[in-house]
Amino acid sequence: MKENRKHNVILIGYMGSGKTSVGECLSKRLTYHFRDTDQLLERKAGDTINHIFATRGEEYFRNLETELLMELNDNLEHTVLSTGGGLPLREQNASLLRKMGYVVFLKASKQTIIKRINRDTTRPLLRGGDINQKVESMLAVRTPIYERTAHKIIATDDKSVDEIALLIMEAY
Ligand code: S3P
Repeated sequence: MKENRKHNVILIGYMGSGKTSVGECLSKRLTYHFRDTDQLLERKAGDTINHIFATRGEEYFRNLETELLMELNDNLEHTVLSTGGGLPLREQNASLLRKMGYVVFLKASKQTIIKRINRDTTRPLLRGGDINQKVESMLAVRTPIYERTAHKIIATDDKSVDEIALLIMEAY
């Protein structure tokens, strides 16, 4: 843990990249709190992400996400924060995340992601259409954004949750 750093680890990456499982494991090892922006957002809105997308649309959801992040900004200490896959896409959010803690991009290949999220019904952006094409085009846009937002990038395909948590602890 570098001296001048806020005591938070922030996990970013595409849906199905393991942010929640790694976040839970890492928070136990560090004896930090664990928070997940999707869960916090659903609690705050009193609604599910699926329903928010269906009734209010993506832009509304993104505004809620940005609002939540601004609220979290001053209230996060000794926390591992797992973030929704689209949260760093707004430049304002990405730079805030870097100020809030040590940002780790969990990088997974398209094949691994598809294996994990296939038949998922809880993620509105994955509904309908060709999943292969969808993931490929989203990754092409998002990967450079995740990479420039992160302090540390970890390729996760061939690693267990525990191994990834240990690698983060070594770098943090
Ligand atoms: C999204 C990812 C989801 C959730 C929402 C939108 C995205 O979170 O925030 O469905 O744009 O990638 P996870 O990355 O935790 O699945």
